[in-house]
Amino acid sequence: MLEFPKSLEKVLLSYIRTLAAQKKSVFAKDAQDFNDKDLRFFSKAVRQLSDLFTKERAELPSGYLNHLPWHIAYLLYFLPINFSKACFVFQKFPKSFWQRSNFKLLDLGCGPASASLAFLHCLSQKNKEAEVEIHLLDQNRKILGSAQDLLKNWQENEKLIKKTSARLESKNLLKARFQQRFDLIIFHHVINEMTSLGALERAEWLHPFLSQHLTDQGLVAIIEPALKRPTRELMALRDHLIEESWEVLAPCLHQKICPMLASTRHDWCHFYADWKEPTYLQKLDRFIGNDNRHLKLAYLILAKSGSYAKQYPHDYFRMVSNRMVTRGKTEVSLCGLSGGVRLMRLDRDRSVKNQDLDQSRRGDILQWEHSLDEKFITRFNAKLEKQSRIKIVK
Ligand SMILES: C[S@@+](CC[C@H](N)C(=O)[O-])C[C@H]1O[C@@H](n2cnc3c(N)ncnc32)[C@H](O)[C@@H]1O
Repeated sequence: MLEFPKSLEKVLLSYIRTLAAQKKSVFAKDAQDFNDKDLRFFSKAVRQLSDLFTKERAELPSGYLNHLPWHIAYLLYFLPINFSKACFVFQKFPKSFWQRSNFKLLDLGCGPASASLAFLHCLSQKNKEAEVEIHLLDQNRKILGSAQDLLKNWQENEKLIKKTSARLESKNLLKARFQQRFDLIIFHHVINEMTSLGALERAEWLHPFLSQHLTDQGLVAIIEPALKRPTRELMALRDHLIEESWEVLAPCLHQKICPMLASTRHDWCHFYADWKEPTYLQKLDRFIGNDNRHLKLAYLILAKSGSYAKQYPHDYFRMVSNRMVTRGKTEVSLCGLSGGVRLMRLDRDRSVKNQDLDQSRRGDILQWEHSLDEKFITRFNAKLEKQSRIKIVK
């Protein structure tokens, strides 16, 4: 279960306190935690920003992080959420990725460094002796300042890993060029803000950029909001990048076209991450009427073709829907080397061999023993018989 580290929560809240003190603050300066009155005060800006990110995206002004209440709202509310989503994705990296002594990280559209902080957290659990050079780039100078302060304060307080250093650049990422290559390039909730480009244009920009700036064993992590439009755009971007011979390590188990994108107009490939939501965030959620008990996200982990070659067996599938239980039957949508499958089991066919279906959850990898030929079909229906075996692999 993901958990926002207490030590980072302390650093973050203390930092927000100093920022808020620039304005006449309403909360007691020495209080260890924000009280309900403080949180209610902040919740107004959190709600506005949350609405702008979801329902009113077109109205999001480009300099939104220059507005102090929204800047604070971002740190207080979105940073812990995005930190935890990034951890969920980083935990899916191949084991061998973590085994190097030096990491060069590029966090594009870094905001307050939510993803870089998450990377340090994950790395500290796997390879504490490593050294990390973090390149933070954002078009907004003010949020870069917060990113730098938070990274410094947390590393100083916690000595997460042996050595970290950060370089900052305030620039439009479409104009960014670097003299070096990176082991990890992160786009966390930023691709959807590149509204000047469509999916094909994004791929046309990304392909040469990544080819030029990623090390041979490097990884690219793209995380997007689990809303229909940005996620379907991400699915389209994935198809374009595969054509340019990039390899998707997750969530896809295959390198064919995206069956969901090809065969539906309404579905989008997203996942839920379980986490222990910080207590103050639960309160904020109650004030603004949001539900973050599970974090919703869409993501891609990409690598240069062949660098992490992993061939999943033909009977492995990713579950890409919820488990739908209706009268007399259970249905799930699966995606694998055979394509997109709508799998249905009648209650009367439940058996020891297929009982794992009753525990399956969106995002699980399932092994379904079937007798399909090796043809790839973007959408087909299949029935799970009493004798068919299905097993949750992970
Ligand atoms: C929703 S925030 C995400 C911040 C951070 N990555 C996170 O996950 O918390 C999007 C960030 O991308 C930045 N951004 C958007 N478009 C950009 C561009 N073209 N070049 C550089 N930064 C950009 C914004 O200034 C903002 O800080």
